[in-house]
Amino acid sequence: MSRIVYVLNGPNLNLLGKRQPHIYGHETLADVEADCRKVAGEHGLELRFHQSNREYEIIDWIHEAREVACGIVINPAAFTHTSVAILDALNTFEATVIEVHISNVHKREDFRHHSYVSLRADGVIAGLGTQGYALALRRLAHLLDKPAAK
Ligand code: DQA
Repeated sequence: MSRIVYVLNGPNLNLLGKRQPHIYGHETLADVEADCRKVAGEHGLELRFHQSNREYEIIDWIHEAREVACGIVINPAAFTHTSVAILDALNTFEATVIEVHISNVHKREDFRHHSYVSLRADGVIAGLGTQGYALALRRLAHLLDKPAAK
């Protein structure tokens, strides 16, 4: 089975570290990618790490993942709360999907409480800061190595 995992990041996450650090912290997306690569290395996962401010690019990566990946970790950022198109794309993907939010969206404005992506996600991590990505990857590795645990 493939051990390729897509880590997908939505709009404005390119500004991580500069953008509202009181909410999202001081780590940059490059720091997150480095953490993810470290965990992936420990578990023999191959990462495809991407960020885009454009909804269609995220959809295209999900379509790519359909062909080759054993899991998707996705922080859809603001598209979480608006994008039926990303939900539809994820519904075409058959393996595990883990949704990650750096902040605890449930503690924030009402409009952040609803997630289209959660209708598909197998697991959701919110409010654990950028560590949420590494935790999501560990969970994926666990499911791959012990599928019965799911
Ligand atoms: C976010 C939460 C979203 O509500 C917000 O639009 C983001 C980031 C998070 O990681 O906490 O851009 O997904």
